[in-house]
Amino acid sequence: NNVGFTGSGFANTANATGQGVEWKIGGSAGNYTFNWRYASTSNRPGNLIVNGSVVASNIAFNSTGIWTSWTTVSTTVNLPLGVKTVRLEATTSSGLGNIDYMEVTGPDAVELSCASSGKMAGGKEVLSIEQNLENTKVSIYPNPSSSKIAVVLPISKFNNYVIYDISGRATMSGQLKDNLDKLDIDINHLSKGIYIISLKGNQTTETHKFIKK
Ligand code: GCU
Repeated sequence: NNVGFTGSGFANTANATGQGVEWKIGGSAGNYTFNWRYASTSNRPGNLIVNGSVVASNIAFNSTGIWTSWTTVSTTVNLPLGVKTVRLEATTSSGLGNIDYMEVTGPDAVELSCASSGKMAGGKEVLSIEQNLENTKVSIYPNPSSSKIAVVLPISKFNNYVIYDISGRATMSGQLKDNLDKLDIDINHLSKGIYIISLKGNQTTETHKFIKK
């Protein structure tokens, strides 16, 4: 209901303590910087909770004056290797401000999912929105595969790739040559399971799932 957000909308929690938004990310151990874009007409601090523990408390989401004025706030914390559930949770009865997005910078950071928790404004319950795992023209075949995969790259915009196992550990990586339209990767040595390949370019990062059988 308030313009100026990016993408197709923003997260609006109910006005209550403990309301929040959750994301899942992967990556190595080290410093992660979280950057949230938001709007609010009052100060609405939030705790950053990672895998159930508060790692930064009462991050100041100060008033932006009006609901259509957006700004960013950031915090840096040290996090362990692996998949991390990241929750931004309201510490006052006003709930969170309107959250446009969360941006994460960290060692081998990879986006996994975004979910709202509890009821969204309007009473609609949203349990999980898997984002960006299968939504582009990049394709992988065969998938599942036991020995080799081909990653079809319709647009030459990626410089390198990193393959993560399901715990978020980087298991393989490599550079991509200019104008490459198909990348063949030998996965013989990988154990059976689900992997995520992250394709990184100057402007974009895309993540795709494949299965080693
Ligand atoms: C207003 C505003 C909403 C906001 C809400 C709030 O209704 O339009 O976008 O989320 O206030 O106080 O949380």
